[in-house]
Amino acid sequence: MSASNECRYKYEECKDTADWLLSRIPQRPTVAIICGSGLGGLADLLENRHIFPYQDIPNFPKSTVQGHAGQLVFGELRGKQCVCMQGRFHFYEGYNITTVTYPVRVFFLLGVEILIVTNAAGGLNPEFSVGDIMMIKDHINMPGFAGQNPLCGPNDERVRFPCMSDAYDKDLAHLAQEAAEEQGCTSYIRHGVYCMLTGPTFETIAECRVLQMLGADAVGMSTVPEVVVARHCGLRVFGLSLITNKVVTDYDSKERANHEEVLETTRMRTEDLQRLVSHLVGKL
Ligand SMILES: *[C@@H]1O[C@H](CO)[C@@H](O)[C@H](O)[C@H]1NC(C)=O
Repeated sequence: MSASNECRYKYEECKDTADWLLSRIPQRPTVAIICGSGLGGLADLLENRHIFPYQDIPNFPKSTVQGHAGQLVFGELRGKQCVCMQGRFHFYEGYNITTVTYPVRVFFLLGVEILIVTNAAGGLNPEFSVGDIMMIKDHINMPGFAGQNPLCGPNDERVRFPCMSDAYDKDLAHLAQEAAEEQGCTSYIRHGVYCMLTGPTFETIAECRVLQMLGADAVGMSTVPEVVVARHCGLRVFGLSLITNKVVTDYDSKERANHEEVLETTRMRTEDLQRLVSHLVGKL
């Protein structure tokens, strides 16, 4: 087969990875959780854990960012079989978009039906505060605008043009809202549109203003490719953005976006976010 007719992801590779994992775990996870920057603590909540560092998993890429442990954690959360990605793969690390989304295809082959994505994001919506948790209702795939869509190239013709208007599952969002109400944490829950830029630079003032005009409420450097592939596989998706900083939109402001602030806010809110996710999982 010539290279031009080959999918950029190889079913056989994903299958090998999935089979390798399935032969080593007693569980069959139905929920996958991708832990964003500093949010890997979610995986520590699982019971009866089986842990696989990425470097030990056949065909799996390796994580390079600080604050990312880089391992798959299988276990039970509120009685549900889950797999957590502690550390994700970012395009800005130099991985291509196919590699970034590789784990999602593996999750599908493991039997996962629901994908929960979390990330740390900059708040664009002026009404958002640092520490807010935004339920993602939609996304803007900015790298996709620039041709970096993980589904580009030869692909399964049965799902050549997947729908994205229903990317974020309404029933899951509804359950999550219920969970937030039961927990009494709705005061810092927001709903909005997540926009992905590749990074690794934070946004300029002019860029933030453009994104606000486009209707984005939060901006970050991840999540969207994984969601696109999850939908391609037929997974139901729920996403949360922790608003770790407010973007600068004023030329007179002395504030500067920095990774330390992001990690600091994450530490402050990480347990609340974990509680919300585990409560949601318990309701699935
Ligand atoms: C993406 O990166 C992987 C790992 O480096 C490589 O095997 C693959 O050929 C690349 N895919 C594309 C489409 O460039």
